[in-house]
Amino acid sequence: MIQTPYYLIDTSKLLHNLGIIQEVRRQSGAKALLALKCFATWSVFDLMRAYMDGTTSSSLYEVRLGRETFGGETHAYSVAYGDDEIDEVVRHADKIIFNSIGQLTRYADKAAGLQRGLRLNPQVSSSDFDLADPARPYSRLGEWDIARVEGVMDRIDGFMIHNNCENGDFALFDRLLATVEARFGSLLARVSWVSLGGGIHFTGEGYPVEAFSARLKAFAARYGVQVYLEPGEAAITRSTTLEVTVLDTLNNGKDLAIVDSSIEAHMLDLLIYRQSAKVEPNTGAHAYMVCGKSCLAGDIFGEFRFAAPLKVGDRISIQDAAGYTMVKKNWFNGVRMPSIALRERDGSIRLIRQFSFDDYKASLS
Ligand SMILES: Cc1ncc(COP(=O)(O)O)c(C=O)c1O
Repeated sequence: MIQTPYYLIDTSKLLHNLGIIQEVRRQSGAKALLALKCFATWSVFDLMRAYMDGTTSSSLYEVRLGRETFGGETHAYSVAYGDDEIDEVVRHADKIIFNSIGQLTRYADKAAGLQRGLRLNPQVSSSDFDLADPARPYSRLGEWDIARVEGVMDRIDGFMIHNNCENGDFALFDRLLATVEARFGSLLARVSWVSLGGGIHFTGEGYPVEAFSARLKAFAARYGVQVYLEPGEAAITRSTTLEVTVLDTLNNGKDLAIVDSSIEAHMLDLLIYRQSAKVEPNTGAHAYMVCGKSCLAGDIFGEFRFAAPLKVGDRISIQDAAGYTMVKKNWFNGVRMPSIALRERDGSIRLIRQFSFDDYKASLS
């Protein structure tokens, strides 16, 4: 038995998503790059590599990780690079996408040996969550003034547009892309590649993969571009659980169960977006509020139903724990860092990483 807490990546579930990505690549001709900001657990990259074309990044460290552990096509992007990192970014990347005309102008010469791109912001998105909306008012994410972009067309080979956010609605994707075309069509025809970013939930159940692929193929043909997708969440969705153990139960007006993990430390994204964790099947006569062991009063995974009363030592699997989760784990309260384990196709479970007090200590000085 592996000591909890640990993240458990299920190889078969991961392969299910990767199979759909491969199919979209085959049908559409688009290339797919894993967005490391979402998922950077490099021990499974040996498995993922066969189904995707490479990685995209949001920093120097991510682009380096992509180059060193995944290989294939390595795209560099960052909201802003500094003078101290640009040379190293250029060394690790095949393409570099600048967030602004200011950054492009500043570093165009240093990146002259690479394909260079610019992020466009079409000012429409699928997100109505302000925090995650790239098209929010005054957004710093990309350029939208066509006249200004015209002025740097001689220095760019491609564009990146990321304006979808957990968008599982193909019709909405289609409409947003039509807006992009209406706004930027004249520019798109003058570059050789366009990345449509991430946020498209095309590996979700019932997503019309064929219509999506056909739309991408038609877009590529219309402008004569290589299309890229940058799936993060879509690549790893529903592949991973956070395995925890009940340490204590009490009733303070509700039945509470405290587990050996912390939403603040181990699933921070849920707390930021004020979402509940997921437990399956979440049925039964016994309702509990499942709480973390940090001292944060609101360290609560959510309220779930169980078939029997919870007792110390019971195991709970928190669902969907890969995206924006493992990359955000932290040492708050010194809570034991979840190990990382892999469920192989034959059902056996292999521990691939454990963290210790020394890792906690080394994270500060
Ligand atoms: C530029 C860019 N590409 C790709 C992604 C990955 O998005 P997702 O994990 O929703 O697919 C993001 C997420 O914020 C992003 O900002």
